[in-house]
Amino acid sequence: MEINFKINDNPITVDVDPNMPLLWVVRDELGLKATKYGCGRGMCGACSLHVDGNLFRSCTYPVQLAEGKEVMTLEGLSESAENLHPVQQAWLEENVPQCGYCQPGFMMAAAKLIIEIPNPTDEEIKQNISNICRCGTHPRIMKAIRRAAEINQGS
Ligand code: FES
Ligand code: FES
Repeated sequence: MEINFKINDNPITVDVDPNMPLLWVVRDELGLKATKYGCGRGMCGACSLHVDGNLFRSCTYPVQLAEGKEVMTLEGLSESAENLHPVQQAWLEENVPQCGYCQPGFMMAAAKLIIEIPNPTDEEIKQNISNICRCGTHPRIMKAIRRAAEINQGS
């Protein structure tokens, strides 16, 4: 079945099983490898991306639901390496990743959070981001999200 949507601002058509998880389409059909496969059950957040500005776990999101929508992966978060998104700037400043596998999902969740809650408290970050990091980078992630919020507000 042909499905049309935008990926990181580019219109595309894919011809796939309509029930294929969006994660497979993004990684295997479109070659965008930032979005990761972790649990495959909507629990770990490694596969998080945005659809029409909302945060979704793409391992449990059938691609047919993306018809006519705008999908954004980590590759589309900033316009260029010279103009990084506040979340990317903060992640670099705080040197967040260890192995790095979970980080794209966290960054997409953080990008959504600082739009919804411009200055989140630690409690609000914990309540809103339930992603899992096996390397234990959560303290640096918390710090980076607070820093991303500051950068986003111009300080
Ligand atoms: S791989 Fe999608 S939530 Fe874990
Ligand atoms: S940095 Fe390794 S799983 Fe999070």
